[in-house]
Amino acid sequence: RFTPRIFSGIQPSGGLTLGNYLGALKRFAALQGDQAQTIYCVVDLHAITVWQDPETLRRNTREATAAFMAAGVDPARSVLFNQSQVTAHAELAWLFNTVARVGWMYRMTQFKDKAGKNSENASLGLLAYPALMAADILAYQATAVPVGEDQKQHLELTRDIAAKFNHDYKVEHFPITEPLIEGVATRVMSLRDGTKKMSKSDPSDASRINLTDDADAIAQKIRKARTDADPLPGSIDGLKDRPEARNLVNIYAALADETPDQVLARFEGQGFGAFKPALAEVAVAAMSPITAKMSEYMADPAEIDRILGKGAERASEIATPILERTKDIMGI
Ligand code: ADP
Ligand code: NA
Repeated sequence: RFTPRIFSGIQPSGGLTLGNYLGALKRFAALQGDQAQTIYCVVDLHAITVWQDPETLRRNTREATAAFMAAGVDPARSVLFNQSQVTAHAELAWLFNTVARVGWMYRMTQFKDKAGKNSENASLGLLAYPALMAADILAYQATAVPVGEDQKQHLELTRDIAAKFNHDYKVEHFPITEPLIEGVATRVMSLRDGTKKMSKSDPSDASRINLTDDADAIAQKIRKARTDADPLPGSIDGLKDRPEARNLVNIYAALADETPDQVLARFEGQGFGAFKPALAEVAVAAMSPITAKMSEYMADPAEIDRILGKGAERASEIATPILERTKDIMGI
């Protein structure tokens, strides 16, 4: 009964990584088609839940937009825009602040991680972050959201908010959105520690491949990636207790559009002395064109702003009537 719509976003908090590309951007591009309308957003209102330097944030918003497009998100086929330019997001988030419960927010592991020990000193926005995320998704009555593993808990909270709203107001106004957590790259791990996710906020630059890294940097980071001395097995099941090795094989598979077992069929019995140069070659071949396109887009900031402006208009056309209907249901 809901129009099939796919929504997702990325924070412009700087330094997008291979994890963001494989877990998010690459899949966003692949989902464009006739099955569902695709709506993608640079979520600057989320980024400012921790302090951002204003000039850097402006640049990062354009850079994230450039990354979407370089990864294949086409502003003619998808709605591509910046969150703060569509006021329905903030307005619906407030309405959801009255639906969501405080206890739900305190349970979020991302809040605990990001707020750290002194959580009383975190911004109120950081605590309410998942209600804004629910607003992002439900402002479009989105039926599916492609995300990485790390966003699973937030998406469950979006479903809880939709269900509670529908229940409290005796309506079927919001869909119960499906998470699309698929493929071998839903959790790309650090190159230095196979138990941590690859992240732009890791203090070690060697732990991640940045979308702005050149071919030499990519090859060097892969050469230095932590591994073990054992030969590779013939299938991914053989890597259960070898997280670093499994991560590199998964990255190879995701970049080459193969299954891990297809990759391992070629490398069975070989060590990382053979595997790493092959992975570096695949990574450079996949990433170099994206890095080059990103810098082409970044050379024309006015054009990026024009694209975002147009996207915001299209997004508002969808979100405004849904917001108005929501307010009407609530009696405001
Ligand atoms: P980050 O977690 O890097 O700060 P965001 O919160 O903006 O980035 O997340 C943007 C998208 O990228 C989300 O869908 C998230 O699940 C995905 N993502 C982030 N890091 C990884 C990773 N290491 N592996 C897979 N997907 C990831
Ligand atoms: Na994240």
